[in-house]
Amino acid sequence: MTAPFLLPEQTSRFLTLPGLSELLLSRDVNLIAPGLLDRVILECQAGVGALLFVGQPGKAPVRIRHGDWSEPALRQLSRWEQAVLGELQQRRMYAVTVPAPSEARLSDGAIILLVNAPLLAGAEVVGTLTVGFTSEFPVPPDYQAMLRNAAANVGMLLRLVHDLSVSRDKLTQLELFFQIGQRMVSTLDLNRLLVDTVGIAASIVNASAASLMLVDEERQELVFEIALGEKGAVLQHTRIPLDEGIAGWVATRGKPIIVNDVARDPRFSRQVDARTGFLTQSVLCVPLQIKGKTIGVLEVLNKYSGEGFDEEDEALLMTIAGQAAIAIENARLYQSLREERDKIITAQEDVRKELARNLHDGIAAQLTAITWNIDHIERLMEKKPEDVPAELESVRQLARQASRQVRLLLFELRPVILETRGLLAALQSYVEQLSADKTLQVHLEAQPYSGRIKPKVEGTIFSIIQEAVNNARRHGKPQNIWLRLFMDEHRLHVEVEDDGLGFNRQEVERNYDARGSLGLLNMRERAALLDGTLMIYSLSEGRERGTLVTLDVPLRPDVWETPPPAAVGPAEAEKEGMGHNE
Ligand SMILES: Nc1ncnc2c1ncn2[C@@H]1O[C@H](COP(=O)(O)OP(=O)(O)O)[C@@H](O)[C@H]1O
Ligand SMILES: [Mg+2]
Repeated sequence: MTAPFLLPEQTSRFLTLPGLSELLLSRDVNLIAPGLLDRVILECQAGVGALLFVGQPGKAPVRIRHGDWSEPALRQLSRWEQAVLGELQQRRMYAVTVPAPSEARLSDGAIILLVNAPLLAGAEVVGTLTVGFTSEFPVPPDYQAMLRNAAANVGMLLRLVHDLSVSRDKLTQLELFFQIGQRMVSTLDLNRLLVDTVGIAASIVNASAASLMLVDEERQELVFEIALGEKGAVLQHTRIPLDEGIAGWVATRGKPIIVNDVARDPRFSRQVDARTGFLTQSVLCVPLQIKGKTIGVLEVLNKYSGEGFDEEDEALLMTIAGQAAIAIENARLYQSLREERDKIITAQEDVRKELARNLHDGIAAQLTAITWNIDHIERLMEKKPEDVPAELESVRQLARQASRQVRLLLFELRPVILETRGLLAALQSYVEQLSADKTLQVHLEAQPYSGRIKPKVEGTIFSIIQEAVNNARRHGKPQNIWLRLFMDEHRLHVEVEDDGLGFNRQEVERNYDARGSLGLLNMRERAALLDGTLMIYSLSEGRERGTLVTLDVPLRPDVWETPPPAAVGPAEAEKEGMGHNE
């Protein structure tokens, strides 16, 4: 019964609880204020009344006038209200000095006494309350106290209702953001996410068009990913220089901006409007940032109301941009993971296909030939036994060839020797097996070294060499392949060179995306895994024939499984012939 804003005595008469609660039902300052003013007029037995309430600085105040105001009375009222408004603007709502109540005696017949008091919420001035006494009723003796008390109650009530509605709006906004956030994090489809973001941005600030651009770092450009609005479609995937226009200003500085009259802003670029035929008037543009890095911008154009964008719109858009940036990052990560996975699957398929082809063309064919030969020998035994030994010898050759191929295949799948005896031994054994092919000479030039590198690193290096050798054999048809391996404590250098047909590397790599297989790419990616560098020199690099693949890998202390012998100084190394220049 004793809510803090209810003062005793006088006020309890007109702010009776049932009446009050009915009035407060609407919860809207604009509806409650007129009702309160009516009660004040009634209570004071005044002829006219006026109320000015300022809820938030910068927002339009609530201004109400009831009764038959004469011209001179209105002039006086405006002067008072202006004075309070001025005061409030200056002190940004924290005015603690209460202006003295004023009286004005007007002799215009209708109004005999005009009284004004500050509308108070506690010690804070939130507006003003004015009543005018007419000759209809006698002016009550305690009119000043009555008005001051009424102004204190009305001020506090309006303040509370106002604050309540602000928090309610904030809550709705929070709920909305929560929903947006949920929706954003629940989609990993980048394009849908971008479309959603732009749609939400436009509707939340009532803009008639909106777009989202992402930074293309390599080309230093902004790319229109999504453009909504009647002229938007034209812009899809078009590009502008990274420092052009308002979007460019935001992208390069990482700061939001509001330009409500683009015609008068030198940063505005007319290029985009010229392309679309859209007429931009106002722009609000905010950066999309991940850990301080700007990855794009979100831009809304032309507010429907025509008033232009304000700081509240900016704050809303910044919040959306913050959530969108995280979601975009997630979707991108997901996408690259998928691409990575697809690549691995393709690489595995390549290996399987290669294996199947080798089994089919090589071993399977040889086994068939062996079977036929055995049938043939069976018949010879009766008809021409003297030819049998020669035929048996050819079967033996076929069987040996088949078993060599099986071993080479197994070796390529998982060279056991690599794990047991290390890279150099594995290469020696690899070269031996390759040399079974008499049309090809494989040369190994390697410097012995001590210490073992981690099997994982060795395995990666070996598979790069394998791919280079297979490419040379398969595509180059060379007579010679040279394998070179140089290594010291700090680095490893590998070369695979052939004297085959060579190829136009630049052309092959340019059309690489359209190709089915990924051998060259796999080599490069494996090299990158080791922080190494892979270079390919062939016809497009000025060679007359053949191809040279080089791989350089830094060997950090932690890649050594068993350490190399203690480092020797460069001078001694020269002397001992351990330095190598290639
Ligand atoms: N040593 C080489 N000699 C001749 N051509 C080569 C050589 N290495 C690569 N190429 C060419 O580059 C292309 C791409 O190689 P790669 O990515 O390994 O795919 P794939 O070997 O499955 O065709 C080959 O198809 C071939 O035309
Ligand atoms: Mg290949």
